Amino acid sequence: MATTLEPVALPKVRHTECFIDGKWVPAASGKTFATMNPATEEEIAQVAEGDAADIDRAVKAARKAFENSAWSRIDARDRGRLIYRLADLIEEEIDELAALEALDNGKPVRDARAADLPLVVDCLRYYAGFADKIQGATIPVRGNYFTYTRKEPVGVVGQIIPWNFPMLMVAWKWGPALAAGCTIVMKPAEQTPLTCLRMAQLAKEAGFPDGVINVVPGFGPTAGAALVKHPGVDKIAFTGEHRTAQIIMRDASESLKRLTFELGGKSPNVILADADLDAAAAGTHFGLFFNQGQCCCAGSRVFVDERVHDEFVARLKKLAATRKLGNPLDRSTEQGPQVDQAQFDKIMKYIQLGQNEGANCLTGGKRFGDRGYFVEPTVFENVTDDMSIARDEIFGPVMSVLKFKEWEELIQRANNTMFGLAAAVWTRDVGRAHEFARRVRAGTIWVNCYDVFDAAAPFGGFKMSGQGRELGEEGMKPYTESKTVTIQL
Ligand code: NAI
Ligand code: MG
Repeated sequence: MATTLEPVALPKVRHTECFIDGKWVPAASGKTFATMNPATEEEIAQVAEGDAADIDRAVKAARKAFENSAWSRIDARDRGRLIYRLADLIEEEIDELAALEALDNGKPVRDARAADLPLVVDCLRYYAGFADKIQGATIPVRGNYFTYTRKEPVGVVGQIIPWNFPMLMVAWKWGPALAAGCTIVMKPAEQTPLTCLRMAQLAKEAGFPDGVINVVPGFGPTAGAALVKHPGVDKIAFTGEHRTAQIIMRDASESLKRLTFELGGKSPNVILADADLDAAAAGTHFGLFFNQGQCCCAGSRVFVDERVHDEFVARLKKLAATRKLGNPLDRSTEQGPQVDQAQFDKIMKYIQLGQNEGANCLTGGKRFGDRGYFVEPTVFENVTDDMSIARDEIFGPVMSVLKFKEWEELIQRANNTMFGLAAAVWTRDVGRAHEFARRVRAGTIWVNCYDVFDAAAPFGGFKMSGQGRELGEEGMKPYTESKTVTIQL
């Protein structure tokens, strides 16, 4: 067991250029930017800074591959085999990829190895199996006609992803797009480009034809915006902040691109008085602090029945105060740094606001150490619905505990948010659980669990938490167009 506590070896950085038309190329401008290690605030590598010129090259390659490469003629089942092959190659170097993810993002390597990477492999395999199961229908129309539908790939898709689950977001985006037969231009987050670039090389080794997958690292307002505005792109799939989605919607309106969004949340996590309080406390802790609190579905509004409030909060405080922070590459670390200075500053601002607005900070509330973007696990009690820490997405290790008395009041308050990504309830009352699931307006409801994900289960948001769904069969739909064919008999 002792060996499992040693830090993992520093992973190699093998790819830092743009991946366009099957080749590694510098940005046309020759520019590069630094990707940083958030645990040390040191540069890991310089990465090609793609912009409009590189996006244009990548879109042209993707268009060519969509229209006239081996890709457009390949049998669906063989398309699936390529995706299986990519999943196998990722699995073969799963330890090194987990370390690279931990280095670039700051997440504990044990989380990357136990959660992110297995989900990546599973997601790709799930969609590999979909490639030959995308079917149309025969339609009974009036008259002497034969009418049927074909499900065709939507075309060239632009995919813009965030930094909180870098490789997993690649898998969620590439899996259904490739299964459907689309071609891809991806812009990874500027904070975490390294694992996405490695995946591009593995896709090349798996045998995807040139131009099917292109990756252009760079910044949002330059590379990202160019991808959204490019007339050669049919669809944008975006995960990130709702404000960015608003910009993307405006920028995409010119060409009326198809859009899917997976955005933020302020998800209610509700503890009823009859819950198993130990299990609920462990799940509530995990549901907020997992991934340094950088989860779109973080259970950041913890509503506790006033009858069990004090004993429950004591448990939450103890769990947060004993969480182990440290080097993400150390296998015993439970919490690493936030991804960058901007996120660190945002979180510290909200901790200050919580204090100013009258919440009681039970534990944490400060920076941890003097190097790296570490924030102590922080729990606020006596939080009220109007406080900033109860309304805004903090995206950090800051938990807000709110009290409630009555069921009806609870349901109203749970829904009193512009977001609707996830919600959870802890109870032994099955009737209450189903009523909660029915009445809370959110895309995912967890009962007596939190953050349970599966490639087969759709995920996405109501209200300002998103548009469309990812994962599962529903996740295929945005990557297909339906074509109706009618033949006179
Ligand atoms: P962001 O939404 O700005 O970035 C996500 C991706 O969008 C990145 O690849 C970025 O380069 C790109 N992007 C930014 N501006 C763009 C534009 N004008 N056109 C096209 N692409 C653009 O998120 P950011 O700034 O990294 O984080 C800010 C806040 O957003 C976080 O504090 C958190 O609250 C929320 N967020 C939510 C995520 C989620 O999973 N729902 C993920 C990341 C951030
Ligand atoms: Mg931003």
